Amino acid sequence: FSLKAYNTFGIDATARHFAVFHDVEELRQLLAISDKEQRLVLGGGSNILLTKNFDGFVLKNELKGKELVGEDDNYFYVKAYAGEVWHEFVLFCIDNNYPGLENLSLIPGCVGASPMQNIGAYGVEIKDVFHQLEALHVHDKTISIFNANDCRFGYRESIFKRALKDQYIILNVTFRLPKKAILHVEYGAIRSELEKMQIDNPGIRDISNAVIRIRTSKLPDPKVTGNAGSFFKNPVLPAAFVDQLKQQYPEMPVYTTLHTDEKKIAAGWLIEQAGWKGYRKNDAGVHPKQALVLVNYGTANGDEIYTLSRQIIDDVKNKFGIELEREVNIVGR
Ligand code: FAD
Ligand code: EPU
Repeated sequence: FSLKAYNTFGIDATARHFAVFHDVEELRQLLAISDKEQRLVLGGGSNILLTKNFDGFVLKNELKGKELVGEDDNYFYVKAYAGEVWHEFVLFCIDNNYPGLENLSLIPGCVGASPMQNIGAYGVEIKDVFHQLEALHVHDKTISIFNANDCRFGYRESIFKRALKDQYIILNVTFRLPKKAILHVEYGAIRSELEKMQIDNPGIRDISNAVIRIRTSKLPDPKVTGNAGSFFKNPVLPAAFVDQLKQQYPEMPVYTTLHTDEKKIAAGWLIEQAGWKGYRKNDAGVHPKQALVLVNYGTANGDEIYTLSRQIIDDVKNKFGIELEREVNIVGR
């Protein structure tokens, strides 16, 4: 079964078995028959790199549904099932005037994967608006509730990528959205985009539209050019080290974090400075407008993309002494 249409990198790898589940009963049955096999749960396939054919069961999540499940004086509680398309859920919230997700507009993929790496963009991460999720354990098949603390969210991190990797399938996520919108426009690009749009008193839909305009101007559309968004994380490093580097490279973008002894730097800047922006070998390349995004121009296989990522990691390490970490989930290595 070809997975080409099921991963946004457009890698033409196959799965030995492919099955879709629409409810928890179907999922339990599929887990029973795939008990001794490797499994890969898929949402939109927008954060994976398939490096070879998958010798097991691919389980495609089609759990659907989204609704307001409660409210109190300050918050709406809105639940979405894991197979809902993320951006459609964001638009549903905007249409119903549930604020909080507008900065996360147009992120590809499904709701169920959003807690996996605590998706984030333009000053907001889902941990900021997360209430709880329900997940099914792959072996004992019981359903557990995880609150925000249980999920151990960090920058592009959660417990589901670490200690509980491959242990749980996320079934649904409930978000706690403030009734009084808190607009996040501190990310410079949003403010200047709103100015270009001539909006000086923005609402949540304006923020969403500004984010959509920024994203479409610099990120490649996976329908046109295969990619999985940022291929690497932005490195978080000891502040003293970053300060020293900043003296050497005053134009280097630096961000503060919640910990004063750590700072984050832009991996895209490092990769561009190392000379990789716009690089292409056969159909594997580095996006000409965003060096953090590796692209498949058509027929690249997962190994070619992976090899390119290895070369970039080695080169950035040589030039700056910084080891980049992959953000995309590598399947098959
Ligand atoms: P998939 O790729 O299907 O799965 C990702 C991982 O999660 C896999 O390991 C999979 O096995 C696991 N998984 C999926 N669903 C479940 C489930 N229900 N239960 C358990 N495990 C599961 N990310 C950001 O954070 N911010 C961005 O701004 C951003 N921009 C992007 C832009 C582009 C153009 C692209 C292509 C990607 C971008 N991404 C971004 C990455 C990606 O969109 C997110 O990581 C998204 O949450 C992935 O969702 P998905 O459904 O496609 O996950
Ligand atoms: N930069 C360069 N050259 C490049 C790319 C970026 O110099 O080729 C510089 C920019 O000039 C800017 C800085 O790096 O000063 C940051 O760039 P940008 O605002 O484009 O964001 P990013 O750090 O590259 C991160 C996330 C994105 C998210 C955006 C917006 C990570 C790994 N990536 O990218 O998330 O959409 O910020 O918040 O944190 C993803 O995770 O897949 C993803 C796309």
